[in-house]
Amino acid sequence: MKILGFIGSPRKGENTDVLVNHILDKAKECGAETKLYNICDMKIGGCVACLACKSNPGTCSIEDDMLPLYDEIVGADAVVIGSPVYVGWITAQAKAFVDRLYAFLGPDYKPYIETPKRCLLVMPQGHPDGSRYEFIGTQLGFLLKFLCNLETKYFIAAGVGKRGARGADVREHQDIMDAVSKLAEELVTAPTWEGVKDPTP
Ligand SMILES: Cc1cc2nc3c(=O)[nH]c(=O)nc-3n(C[C@H](O)[C@H](O)[C@H](O)COP(=O)(O)O)c2cc1C
Repeated sequence: MKILGFIGSPRKGENTDVLVNHILDKAKECGAETKLYNICDMKIGGCVACLACKSNPGTCSIEDDMLPLYDEIVGADAVVIGSPVYVGWITAQAKAFVDRLYAFLGPDYKPYIETPKRCLLVMPQGHPDGSRYEFIGTQLGFLLKFLCNLETKYFIAAGVGKRGARGADVREHQDIMDAVSKLAEELVTAPTWEGVKDPTP
């Protein structure tokens, strides 16, 4: 199984980075081949609505670092996307990446990627209530399925961050680290992704 990881946090070595790396490491232990991208180190601009992708789905007219990712995503079996909650949504960098997945939506509103892929969305947040930003997981899950056939489950790591209610470093929270380890294992080994229990708070 080939898994791509995308980190949408500008903070190196911090919560999102730790969680996505931990998931990929665990997936590797379970036999997956993994590849990691840090979206914040890449030049990924916003969609310019030229609609060139509606004539050629799976490509984009903007020649930036997003271009090679289209083929990479097509060739992957699963995707892990991490972003901290910033002002009630994902980071601007992660949002630009998601917007550009619009290139996978065919002119008939069907995704260019015909075979569903497994997707795990992981979101640290400072607020201690894990249900507060559940709408991000629900909405993004719907969009990722609609745009590019990613069957998305989301995990919220609540209360972590510099001013987070549970303390800054997600590594100190064994419950969170254990939960994402289990999800990584399931991402690789579960007979069906739909059968995996939703990791909602
Ligand atoms: C600009 C900014 C906006 C944030 N907005 C929210 C928010 O709306 N809700 C929340 O619970 N935490 C918010 N946070 C806290 C982060 O989600 C939290 O610290 C997270 O663990 C950071 O992840 P990182 O360590 O990968 O950067 C915000 C942090 C920053 C810097």
